[in-house]
Amino acid sequence: MQALSKQTLAQCLVAEQVEPALATVITSVTEATRDIATLVHQGALAGVLGSAAVENVQGETQKNLDVIANNLLKDALAANPQVRALASEEEEYVVAANSTGRYVVAFDPLDGSSNIDINGQIGTIFTVYPALDNIADDSVLHFLQAGSAQVCAGYVLYGAATLLVLTMAAPDSPTRCYTLDAQSNTFVLTQEQFDVPASTQEFAANMANQRFWDHGFKHYIADLLLGETGVRAKRFNMRWNAAMVGDVHRVLMRGGVFLYPRDSRNLDQPAKLRLLYEANPMALLIEHAGGKAYGEASAGIETILSIKPQALHERVSVFLGSAEEVDLCLGYLD
Ligand code: F6P
Repeated sequence: MQALSKQTLAQCLVAEQVEPALATVITSVTEATRDIATLVHQGALAGVLGSAAVENVQGETQKNLDVIANNLLKDALAANPQVRALASEEEEYVVAANSTGRYVVAFDPLDGSSNIDINGQIGTIFTVYPALDNIADDSVLHFLQAGSAQVCAGYVLYGAATLLVLTMAAPDSPTRCYTLDAQSNTFVLTQEQFDVPASTQEFAANMANQRFWDHGFKHYIADLLLGETGVRAKRFNMRWNAAMVGDVHRVLMRGGVFLYPRDSRNLDQPAKLRLLYEANPMALLIEHAGGKAYGEASAGIETILSIKPQALHERVSVFLGSAEEVDLCLGYLD
């Protein structure tokens, strides 16, 4: 394939021979994220900070921007005849769109909501699946396909720059990065391919949860912290953004592991992250960049992409990033 650097997203989708109907779905998502980016960067001036007076299906207080981002994505996708249905972190049930649609889209409209009001990293995570035949438009079954059925996955990171990170289904499809050009308001390819190094000296985990972790994971982290003279014989650094989208972006850029294990804080809900619109898209992006992604939902630990979902908002533990370090971590788990 010819060098694509500095081409627009639309040009790259053509060059990559992305099926035109799917390309329109990606365009609908990214157009909505451009509007979200404008609001995020205007912050208080746009009057979008602070909390809304409602809780979402997960029992979390919604931020104003959660609600606005959700509505922008919903409206953009519902207007696309190729979208059969959508699912969102902010919607309890599947939302039917167009019976003609060949695709369904799931998204977390604003990942890392606690960072909104502190001007920290936040993002939109999305995934596209083929719509299934012979079921209702709003059937949950469209969304209970394993992550390996995703036809495309990505996120938009609203950071110092607004970045789109995207990959397609084919196993040789690279994970690519586009930067939103403020002049033309288009996403322009700025990194043709991520390549996550196999080994690392950096980890991301919420250490405040340590007392709730299983013995095996506690032991793994304890060994990391021993440094040069310990069993791992190297010094590890820690980073935690409190936004998966920011932590996964760092892992794609320079390696590392992002770890959100099960814990005993709330026995009804031992894992925190959502399989459908957080773990699955991130797992595809990481695998297509040469990394690994494992997790545990209702069965034992397996690759995230092979988990058969049981429910729309199902949660899963997540261990992803540099391949050798993910393997070492899994070796400790109970
Ligand atoms: O699922 C939401 C999320 O904000 C992720 O983006 C992030 O990785 C995690 O939760 C942060 O969790 P904690 O509240 O433990 O820092």
